[in-house]
Amino acid sequence: MEKILILDFGGQYNQLIARRVRECSVYCEVRPYTMTMAEIRAFAPMGIIFTGGPNSVYLPDAPSVDPEIFRLGVPILGICYGCQLMAQSLGGLVTAAQADSAREFGKTETFFDTGCSLFYGIPEKSITWMSHGDYMAQVPPGFALVGHTDACPNVAIADEARRFYGVQFHPEVNHTEFGAQMLHNFLYRICLVHGTWKMGDFCQQTIASLRRQIGDGRVLLALSGGVDSSVLAALLAEAIGQNLTCVFVDHGCMRKNEGDEIAAAFARWPVHFVRVDAADRFLEKLAGVTDPQQKRRIIGAEFGFVFRDEAERFGITGSDFLAQGTIYPDVIESGKGGADVIKSHHNRLLPPEVVARFKGILEPLDLLFKDEVRQLGRELGLPEELVTRQPFPGPGLAIRIIGEVTQQKLEILREADFIFREEIAAANLADSMSQYFAVLTNTRSVGVMGDGRTYDYALALRSVTTSDFMTADWSRIPYDVLDRISIRIVNEVKGINRIVYDITSKPPATIEWE
Ligand code: XMP
Repeated sequence: MEKILILDFGGQYNQLIARRVRECSVYCEVRPYTMTMAEIRAFAPMGIIFTGGPNSVYLPDAPSVDPEIFRLGVPILGICYGCQLMAQSLGGLVTAAQADSAREFGKTETFFDTGCSLFYGIPEKSITWMSHGDYMAQVPPGFALVGHTDACPNVAIADEARRFYGVQFHPEVNHTEFGAQMLHNFLYRICLVHGTWKMGDFCQQTIASLRRQIGDGRVLLALSGGVDSSVLAALLAEAIGQNLTCVFVDHGCMRKNEGDEIAAAFARWPVHFVRVDAADRFLEKLAGVTDPQQKRRIIGAEFGFVFRDEAERFGITGSDFLAQGTIYPDVIESGKGGADVIKSHHNRLLPPEVVARFKGILEPLDLLFKDEVRQLGRELGLPEELVTRQPFPGPGLAIRIIGEVTQQKLEILREADFIFREEIAAANLADSMSQYFAVLTNTRSVGVMGDGRTYDYALALRSVTTSDFMTADWSRIPYDVLDRISIRIVNEVKGINRIVYDITSKPPATIEWE
């Protein structure tokens, strides 16, 4: 099989590089930079990518590679830190940028030598996305300068004879206009792959490896009814059939009718499906809690305790497994590998005693992005309405009610959110939006209805368009649709007298408010 090895130096976008390589129909794995030469040879990559990373190559304990890697005869692409590491290892000189002007962050106009194989077929000038404070003061022998900006003479280097390339910018992020084409060039023109890998291969490989790992054991799947856990249910059903028990916990913070809809959808599947009504348990624990991370911790832990109780009930033992539909953005936003904790996704918060209760936790989707999970769902033959379902966070409406979660607020939000969704469907806008929902702010404001004064909650509407949910843009909902939604909600939902529409993108905001 054609394989690309991505050596991880701790950059933020490493899985994004992997995803871009997969998009080019090439199998790849992200491995730590500490991988030994023997392991690298056994892996037999057709090309190697060094990722970015937060360090400076000239500092004493900076991550490095065995120089032997440059004698393998395998093409290498270094990105950002990876580029500087290659430059330094091969006799160049990297220093901290002396002038502030040589440090570059963000979108930068860049000029390319399009005679270089890496830049084949792209314009001579385009935007790249930079994030570096270090500078290649001296390019290593054998390398040519193949890219520059106004501030920096050497943002891309190439030794075409040895097939070594380095770029100071990030080709994997969408902000780099022709980044995907550059990675495609690296794979197809430099590593000479044929591009035979498909999502179907991932599906079959994952099923086979789940079978090997689980053996005769059983699996309790934490099923939320959303895309990720439903796709995992299909994958596990394929792998182990009747040894799978899917547990859907209704924590009382679901959207209107949602619990029944999920139960009805799974009743049509030949899988063992269990619905647990745990609303009282969750709401009791959430009483008086206002801090978002605290809500998330309580809900994540309580999910774990319910799974433990259900495992007892169904005779699932310590030699069996718990499975979760965790995907890559859940992992990275919860602060994996030193990344900042943006918000702890519920599936990252299992109490240690729950984890210890099982032989292991299975999270086979944890390297995939949302749209890749959807592709996998299609591969597994899941119905389109399930595959395209908008995401719903595990903690549910609890993190869409700012401040304390109460029964009364849940009822208000459920009704308002339902009307919002109904009107979006009626306006045929659902397909153009990735996720849309209502948020009950904790702010009350004065209004006038009939002839009387009101002092009720302000409701926020949120809708975003995104493919990977790591970045998102707010949706341009037509004013007349917003108008209809606003009129209906204020008229039909007691307790709301003001509607605002959230017009922030991610970043700087996140999709959910908490
Ligand atoms: P944010 O708000 O971080 O959300 O921009 C990104 C995506 O993740 C969803 N989300 C969650 N999903 N458990 C989940 O399963 C969680 O705890 C959680 N928090 C946020 C969010 O709805 C969006 O699709």
